[in-house]
Amino acid sequence: MINPQEFSEFAASRRSVRDFLPSPIDQGTMDAILTDAMTAPSWSNTRPYLVAIASGAQRERISRELLSRNKALAAAQTGGWMAKLRLLATFKSWPISDYRIVRPYPKELAVRSGRIGKALYALLGVERGDAVGRAKQWQRNYEFFGAPTELFIFTHSGLGEYSASDAGLFMQNLMLSAHARGLGTCAQGSVAIWARPIHREFEIPKGYKLLCGIAIGYASADPVNSFRAERLDISEIVAPSVIL
Ligand SMILES: Cc1cc2nc3c(=O)[nH]c(=O)nc-3n(C[C@H](O)[C@H](O)[C@H](O)COP(=O)(O)O)c2cc1C
Repeated sequence: MINPQEFSEFAASRRSVRDFLPSPIDQGTMDAILTDAMTAPSWSNTRPYLVAIASGAQRERISRELLSRNKALAAAQTGGWMAKLRLLATFKSWPISDYRIVRPYPKELAVRSGRIGKALYALLGVERGDAVGRAKQWQRNYEFFGAPTELFIFTHSGLGEYSASDAGLFMQNLMLSAHARGLGTCAQGSVAIWARPIHREFEIPKGYKLLCGIAIGYASADPVNSFRAERLDISEIVAPSVIL
């Protein structure tokens, strides 16, 4: 058995990687990571998820498509009414996700999200009002941060929220297994903004919806990978008892 101190250090040392080397992941390693991910607990052992694996030419094609949609959407968001009309007219780049992507965040959660965004942009030297700098970092999501492989996680809508919960457990096992093998990962809700181009690339049975992506590969030495997201104290998430 692994000792608790080692486990704590290992779990805490996993960090989202946002710049990857192009080095490919060999099939044996990918299979082992997925096998580990499958040992996560699951609602009635249903495993209501699917993973679609994009690398090589397919990864390039999906990335190109998402980059082009992101560019059109950004132009509409920052441009005048003509730019907005153009987006409406082509409709293609209009964000249509399988799951509702909640914006704005609830007030108490927006504070935490705001803190992480501020700290990440500060590390990257992107000023508060620097829309171009922010857009450039956001765009890296659609380059999959240079990762050789992008995973797309689909969940069966038939189990409601518990499908997403199962997928989360699967994803965490997957990311820890990758970490144990010297690979980095970054979960990416950003790639789920447009579901259609991803569905088009894989045979996805009816009922499965795109939840998010995971960039996976070997971390580069880029300073962005030295980012250390704040970790909250447990007192922030333990619900106090009501005195009855
Ligand atoms: C479901 C999910 C979606 C995420 N989407 C993105 C994303 O689109 N882009 C990104 O850079 N990070 C994304 N993240 C990474 C989080 O920002 C990161 O996990 C958090 O800041 C904590 O940092 P850590 O993973 O380094 O511990 C996502 C994480 C999760 C769990």
